[in-house]
Amino acid sequence: MGDNRTPVTVIGLGDMGAALAGAFLAQGRQVTVWNRTAAKADALAARGALRAGTVGDAVAASPLVVVCVLDHGVVEDVLGPVSGALAGRTVVNLTNGTPEQARKAAAWADEHGIGYLDGGIMAVPPGIGTPGAFILYSGPRELFDAHREALSALGRPEYAGTDPGAAALQDLALLTGMYGMLSGVVQALALVRSAGFGPVDFATAKLVPWLGAMAAAVPHYAGQIESGDYTQGVVSRLAMQAAGLENIFRAHEDQGVSTELLAPLRALVARRLAEGHGAEDFPGVAELLGGGGATAGR
Ligand SMILES: NC(=O)c1ccc[n+]([C@@H]2O[C@H](COP(=O)([O-])OP(=O)(O)OC[C@H]3O[C@@H](n4cnc5c(N)ncnc54)[C@H](OP(=O)(O)O)[C@@H]3O)[C@@H](O)[C@H]2O)c1
Repeated sequence: MGDNRTPVTVIGLGDMGAALAGAFLAQGRQVTVWNRTAAKADALAARGALRAGTVGDAVAASPLVVVCVLDHGVVEDVLGPVSGALAGRTVVNLTNGTPEQARKAAAWADEHGIGYLDGGIMAVPPGIGTPGAFILYSGPRELFDAHREALSALGRPEYAGTDPGAAALQDLALLTGMYGMLSGVVQALALVRSAGFGPVDFATAKLVPWLGAMAAAVPHYAGQIESGDYTQGVVSRLAMQAAGLENIFRAHEDQGVSTELLAPLRALVARRLAEGHGAEDFPGVAELLGGGGATAGR
């Protein structure tokens, strides 16, 4: 298994599943597809994909079965009835879910003699198979190594750990970072719009370069969180930042722009200050979020 001729089955042909199947086809593999709404296989069939009439036929066609549907509940509904046919094959589940859902799916697969890798896709469908895409995988290392070449069709494969929940945890952490950035972006653009500045010009000329420059500081902040020491290399004291945050709040209020996205941040900073950490760096607010005692990589 794992050579470049391994046939692949893709179950789920939504926006993402169709992109995954297309990338396997582009890699020159035999690709069998199944989707609840059969018409979504038309374009792929025109490119050479084999349509399966049932999920059972789909999984029987390949040793490697990639599933990408809406959520883990759908994965259970679709794969549960064909556990017998899946025995001895490998399921790579690229459906978004929680670490606990991934562990439950891995335990189910183990019970039925099915190899299981859980995955998290760090790309949007048009990015699949392009150099910027990467996909996190967790589960047995030997399964990852065996299918690495096939999976590289989708994006750079990144092994997250043996705990089946590791990929989901890291996926959700990356999405958390993304939503933090997007929250700041919509807030900033609402503020400039309120003052009559064009959001597109502002974003292109100023916000994107600014965020890029700030992103360069992320490893430094990560180092502070890893060590729990927020006193080293401080260039922007929390007390100074808290004063600036108040100005941000007042400017939004003056412009008639809601501060509801910013309010939780203001509360955390105020708590950290009240606990006497004004001379430390901003990432110290992480100490108020808990979760500091976990073992890396489990
Ligand atoms: N799109 C993205 O940007 C992106 C990025 C990263 C990760 N993902 C993840 O990829 C997964 C799929 O996303 P998507 O964008 O492809 O979503 P989507 O376009 O909404 O497709 C959903 C898929 O799930 C199937 N499905 C839903 N309910 C079902 C049921 N009860 N029984 C059988 N099949 C069912 C749909 O089948 P029908 O066609 O019959 O409705 C379709 O194949 C999600 O977990 C998502 O979080 C997506």
